[in-house]
Amino acid sequence: MEILIRESPETCAALAAQIVARTVTSLARPVLGLATGGTPQLLYRELVALHERGELSFRSTTTFNLDEYVGLGPSDANSYHRYMQTHLFDHVDLDREQTFLPPGSAPDLRQACREYEELIAEAGGIDLQILGIGANGHIGFNEPTCSLGSRTWVKILSEQTIRDNARYFGDESEVPRHVVTMGIATILEARHCLLLATGPKKADAVQRMIEGPVSAMCPASALQMHPRVTVVLDEEAAFLLTFKEHYRWVERHKLDWQQLE
Ligand code: PGA
Repeated sequence: MEILIRESPETCAALAAQIVARTVTSLARPVLGLATGGTPQLLYRELVALHERGELSFRSTTTFNLDEYVGLGPSDANSYHRYMQTHLFDHVDLDREQTFLPPGSAPDLRQACREYEELIAEAGGIDLQILGIGANGHIGFNEPTCSLGSRTWVKILSEQTIRDNARYFGDESEVPRHVVTMGIATILEARHCLLLATGPKKADAVQRMIEGPVSAMCPASALQMHPRVTVVLDEEAAFLLTFKEHYRWVERHKLDWQQLE
């Protein structure tokens, strides 16, 4: 794993936006995996700013989101369909026919999950998967003790995630219990994973992801098995890392061609 520690959520977002922009501009038909939640909002703001300055076009880009709540249609204020419109899709030149989210409202969820995997494969797989991390170590909505071999499927949220996400819904009882999420195996097939974490609430999960054992108790730790992961952390999220100085040392000693590789 490449661990990059920056001062603040804003500087993390600027760095992550550079990584996304480099992927988008270097490929003829880039495929991005997108995440939702509080953390990537600043990243999307940076990407929109790059687009508005004429420095970045998403015209040839295809996107696949990680997860969606079951039963919340695209027009629901708390759906991730709506989130993506608000934070990215409405502000850039993505072809809306090429933006895909998991099928939280499909009549046959199981079939729709299989089709989502097929769509990703038909697009040639994901070039860069943006990820956040839950305070409990989840990525996507793959909660602790999930299968590390899982694929896109219907899953049940943990009580901690329901509490964490209640801030968007006003009340815990309003948070859907069921979600559709890419599985851990789906995520691990992306050619490059970019995980962003900021703030003190993520410090424990970040430490377990990077320095703990690979374990379904911290699903994000499965990323240790991936050949190309970039983790961008602010000082608060990096606070509990035992080898923090080593990660800074490694970054300072990168060869020229490894810069922003
Ligand atoms: P957050 O969520 O960015 O809203 O903290 C991250 C996640 O749960 O993956």
